[in-house]
Amino acid sequence: MRLFVALDIPEAVRAALLQCTVQFSQLCQGACWVRLTDAHVTLKFIGEVPAERAEAIRLALAEVHGFAPVDMHFAGLGFFPNAQRPRVLWAGIDGGPALAKLAAAVDERAAAVGIACEEREFRPHITLARFKSSNGLDPLRTAIAKLGAPEFGRATAREFCLYQSVLRPAGAEYTRLATYNFSGDS
Ligand code: 2AM
Repeated sequence: MRLFVALDIPEAVRAALLQCTVQFSQLCQGACWVRLTDAHVTLKFIGEVPAERAEAIRLALAEVHGFAPVDMHFAGLGFFPNAQRPRVLWAGIDGGPALAKLAAAVDERAAAVGIACEEREFRPHITLARFKSSNGLDPLRTAIAKLGAPEFGRATAREFCLYQSVLRPAGAEYTRLATYNFSGDS
């Protein structure tokens, strides 16, 4: 099973993202746009695990608790790894140290059941598109530069989820396997 841990994003933020990206999709044919109903903030990518280990992971994540709700500000656009040869277009999130601490706690609990720790710095984001080619990249970069740092809204996160991702020819399909309140209350 291919698993990951993520925060869901509120409808108002999805709507703001859609309003922004709908214009981009016509400009850039080389990008594969994420269905915004599937957009999320990845806290931890677990990757492929044998199905029998999924239950241990599900239980381990329940030990992440004692976290207050996290205020998030969604704003700005950027590219990973860079604007010259991008693989991903993302929307930014400022969740302060609290969000990074939550991601670190998820990483630590997953490590306790044998999942490799994340070695890269946590950079919270919402993936909006993945690039298959550089077709239309110049007009996209120009449009993004014109926008500056667009605002997508604010939200308070109180729970995170364990998701299964099934890769299909038409794109990944995500299924929520469990939901965890930050405080640890069920
Ligand atoms: P991202 O899009 O938020 O960057 C489910 O596949 C999620 O896990 C993806 O949306 C992606 O998060 C993240 N992900 C997928 N493959 C990954 C990998 N090899 N390393 C790290 N994160 C990955």
